[in-house]
Amino acid sequence: MLDEDLICVIDLGTTEIRAIIGTYNSRLNEFEIIAYSSVRSEGIKNGEIINVEALSNCIRDCISKIEDSLDITVYSSHVVVNAKNVKYVRSSSQILFYDKEGKIVEKEITEKDVMTLMDKVKEEHFESGYVLSDVFISKYEISEGGKSDEGEEVDGNMIDSPVGMSSNGLKVDFILSFMKEREYKKIIKSMEFANIEIKGIILQPVAVSTFLLSKDDREIGTLLLNMGDSSTDFVFWQGGKMKCISNLAVGGRHFTDDILIACRLSSREEAENIKVNYVHFNFDNYNSDTFTISEEEEEEKRFVKTIVVDKAVKFRADDIFDAIENKFPCPGLKKNMNLIVLSGEASKMKDFKEFISEKFGVAVKRNLHTLKGVKLLVEGGGDVIDSKFISALGGLKYVSNRKWGEMSMRKSRRLLPLENFFKKIIFWR
Ligand SMILES: Nc1ncnc2c1ncn2[C@@H]1O[C@H](COP(=O)(O)OP(=O)(O)OP(=O)(O)O)[C@@H](O)[C@H]1O
Ligand SMILES: [Mg+2]
Repeated sequence: MLDEDLICVIDLGTTEIRAIIGTYNSRLNEFEIIAYSSVRSEGIKNGEIINVEALSNCIRDCISKIEDSLDITVYSSHVVVNAKNVKYVRSSSQILFYDKEGKIVEKEITEKDVMTLMDKVKEEHFESGYVLSDVFISKYEISEGGKSDEGEEVDGNMIDSPVGMSSNGLKVDFILSFMKEREYKKIIKSMEFANIEIKGIILQPVAVSTFLLSKDDREIGTLLLNMGDSSTDFVFWQGGKMKCISNLAVGGRHFTDDILIACRLSSREEAENIKVNYVHFNFDNYNSDTFTISEEEEEEKRFVKTIVVDKAVKFRADDIFDAIENKFPCPGLKKNMNLIVLSGEASKMKDFKEFISEKFGVAVKRNLHTLKGVKLLVEGGGDVIDSKFISALGGLKYVSNRKWGEMSMRKSRRLLPLENFFKKIIFWR
């Protein structure tokens, strides 16, 4: 493995900062991870960066652990960020080709034409206070008379490349993701302060989809539900394409809050402990179960019926499902959804999977077997990497799959990564 093949990815999570270094071989669908580390996250609250300095210290600590274990220096990294401050726009745009007399003509589509179309997209959807963070092409269309071609497959995401085809115009259907500019600047600053050049920003739901969803999953109509600490992402895939993507500001911490209130607790740690160890969603079976609470300021141990916390979290879960049904802007979701895939550590709650399956009447899986495909070349690293690294692994795979785009970025290191993203669209095939 050459040093320059190595990719570093840092996942800026609300509860933890996680970093991995390694490679992904798309031909063999194999990861080789040579180092990973995680530290408790500080400076991010409710999915927003509230203290750049504290966050950059955590990033530095996390990376220093890797540097020390490998005896190397990490100069640059990609980052995965949660999508709480992101909004998505689904739309389409087109250009027509004219000759010198102003008549529409058929011609061979070049990369420059694709760039022109993408510039138009950018102009049409510019919004002050937001930066364009990524673009997901659903499909290109060429005008009648032009010749179409089979698209080649990248990472299960069909991109019909129009370059080289003949047409009198070019249309594109896409989803754009926009990040709040102030949040984007804080991410850049946090990395800068930690002395690491930022090579690209990947949204968590995109990274997780890339890692967890198989080609078949993307084809049959699969809803990915990624529940982190402060928010939950929804991504719907069908026919090999990302159809819709959204984010709800409810995650694991809200379940903890509910337990805190239901049990009249003063410590979040105790509420977290209850969430991880005693809560279940299949509560009919646990009607008579109890657990004990022993908070410092209470003289005696308290017995609490499990059903009290089970009911509290179920209310919260119902909120999330109502949001999927009523607020997730995804036409045809209910009709076309055949599978739900869960990710994010908060989705580990007991019987949550079964509960969701019953609610939606479709199969639900947590797809963790995919972690077995990750080779750990780390001393004392164990056989299987923890599921909490899924976002970082997905980021690594996402970046590797787009190595052409990466190469084009490397040639112009001075440009901010996001300014270069139109180039990526052309080179990412
Ligand atoms: N075994 C478990 N059972 C239930 N909840 C859990 C378990 N382990 C972790 N959690 C919860 O998962 C949440 C953290 O999830 P995750 O690690 O995916 O988020 P994050 O990456 O730190 O944050 P985010 O992606 O929202 O910025 C916390 O609320 C934590 O309490
Ligand atoms: Mg996360």
